[in-house]
Amino acid sequence: MSNIESVLNETRVFPPPEAMVKQANVSGMAAYKAMCDEAERDFEGFWARLARENLLWSKPFTKTLDESGAPFYKWFHDGELNASYNCLDRHLKTQPDKVAIIFEADDGKVTKVTYKELYHRVCQFANGLKSLGIKQGERVLVYMPMSIEAVVAMQACARIGATHSVVFGGFSAKSLQERIIDAGAIAVICADGQFRGGKEIPLKPAVDEALAMGGCESIRDVVVYKRSGSPVAMNAPRDKWWHDVTQGQAQDCEPTWVNAEHPLFILYTSGSTGKPKGVQHSTGGFLLQAMLTMKWVFDYKPTDVFWCTADVGWVTGHTYIAYGPLAVGATEVVFEGVPTYPDAGRFWKMIQDHKVNVFYTAPTAIRSLIKAGGDLPKKYDLSSLRILGTVGEPINPEAWMWYHETVGGSRCPIVDTWWQTETGGHMITPLPGVTPLVPGSCTLALPGIMAAIVDETGQDVPNGQGGLLVIKRPWPSMIRTIWGDPERYKKSYFPEELGGKLYLAGDGSLRDKETGYFRIVGRIDDVLNVSGHRLGTMEIESALVANSRLVAEAAVVGRPDDMTGEAVVAFVVLKGHRPTGDEAKALAKELRDWVAKEIGPIAKPKEIRFGDNLPKTRSGKIMRRLLRAIARGEEITQDISTLENPAILDQLKQTL
Ligand code: WTA
Repeated sequence: MSNIESVLNETRVFPPPEAMVKQANVSGMAAYKAMCDEAERDFEGFWARLARENLLWSKPFTKTLDESGAPFYKWFHDGELNASYNCLDRHLKTQPDKVAIIFEADDGKVTKVTYKELYHRVCQFANGLKSLGIKQGERVLVYMPMSIEAVVAMQACARIGATHSVVFGGFSAKSLQERIIDAGAIAVICADGQFRGGKEIPLKPAVDEALAMGGCESIRDVVVYKRSGSPVAMNAPRDKWWHDVTQGQAQDCEPTWVNAEHPLFILYTSGSTGKPKGVQHSTGGFLLQAMLTMKWVFDYKPTDVFWCTADVGWVTGHTYIAYGPLAVGATEVVFEGVPTYPDAGRFWKMIQDHKVNVFYTAPTAIRSLIKAGGDLPKKYDLSSLRILGTVGEPINPEAWMWYHETVGGSRCPIVDTWWQTETGGHMITPLPGVTPLVPGSCTLALPGIMAAIVDETGQDVPNGQGGLLVIKRPWPSMIRTIWGDPERYKKSYFPEELGGKLYLAGDGSLRDKETGYFRIVGRIDDVLNVSGHRLGTMEIESALVANSRLVAEAAVVGRPDDMTGEAVVAFVVLKGHRPTGDEAKALAKELRDWVAKEIGPIAKPKEIRFGDNLPKTRSGKIMRRLLRAIARGEEITQDISTLENPAILDQLKQTL
């Protein structure tokens, strides 16, 4: 809560610099308001105009929004287009030789590809995928390091109308297997390994392990990009090298025109239950908002060098690496490594070397770089920067001020962008040439995005009062459904309790009394935000309990953490006795490694506490509120009269 309180008391305001306003794509508050008014007045007309102005359609749409199947909305759905065509072919005449991607490897080696080269690489790989028999509508799982090839793989899928599902390289074989099965994927595109922080991390073995677990019989091909060169098992005829698949393929590939509603990708994310949700996105609506936000929020200019530090395994890497920057024709940086290698000046050195103008990263990275070397930015020439951005979690005002002053030289607006895997693109965010900034606030909704705060019955609450963040009208880049589970889509995002028409974001929020600025308070469900990564507490609990040899019962909660935002704390009851001392330490390590294997290292509990039991009500319900208080080291002031076994609390208070 301390972060929220300090944000609430925040009185510093940073108006947009005059020079920024003058040149901005959205210049001044009046221009922003005019767009908001247009959207209010003629909602469909507003989006239709933008979709016609920004996207290239092979078959123009005549209907903008179809609400007949609400909440399964359709946008531009009698139109046809291709996402890869919109990202690549459109630039071939105007700027074939402009650099599309500046790739910097972990070891510092830089490779650049122009739009024309990228187009040819995507076409060749797309032809390669076609030669494997991959067809429109089939799902392809991508498990790749940060690389030009990761973008090529995604773009090539889009080109032939295959739906990609990217799994973050930090996820385990088990997570991979679950996603392959859920998506019914027919091929995997991966690399032999990747380099991060000077270390080689294998990827292909996890694919082999996942496929050996069973249930993945849908997979016909595994295409392996040679990155590390370390020996890997190649299981013929299933496994093929990327270079063999592209060998001899034509450098052009007619795009497969798809319906605007065609699923461009599925991306799995955590929800409140144990099973990750496959968030399904469209082609037309998704791409439209990716482009618009590049122009509005990042104020894209043709001379800009844009750098989003996210991994392609997350939605940020989809919208702001694989699609948005290419659709507007930007030069973007793609980075393989980590911000602290070879030292904590890596980001700043790269900004200097590549003359980055727009830099987009996560609060957790900012906090860790302050800690690892808060003065380091001063050693580099960061004068190329004009806009800074953050995403993924609330940014605390101290980190905001450091980012503003030390990285941005007090001259760059910071766009604190609130959005989600499900929203596809920015939703609530400052615009650099419009919005006076308040540290820690994501400020105002974009034009056409009807964000509001309501109570548990769906009624609006007045400014100044906390409530549930909702979006009142559909928007083009919204989630279309949860893959294979439309009921869960309806229940999670359009709950009956709120009337069934409001999109429930799952975040608590409040608006400033005077300015109406939004402040995000944090998740209202059992989802944690650790270093900007969404983790479901139920997922981690299921993973722990899956260790049936050791674990009888487990409950997972979050607690605030200075560095990672939130940290995972697990309370575990073992089969057999409650361990103490060295035995407890060894078992905690074993369980942490177990979670890393079940889900991935990002889900490892920071702390594990053992008890003979968990605090439960007489009806057997785990009292998570008490566990949260214990995890935070707070005095327990809550009523514990319904607690079956009060003595357990003292046990659980003991840390290892
Ligand atoms: C949180 C990432 C505060 C929020 C694009 C949301 C934020 C979840 C912000 C989505 C922000 C994202 N300020 N909180 N600017 N941006 N969040 O799906 O809780 O990985 O619901 O998408 O991150 O995380 P996801």
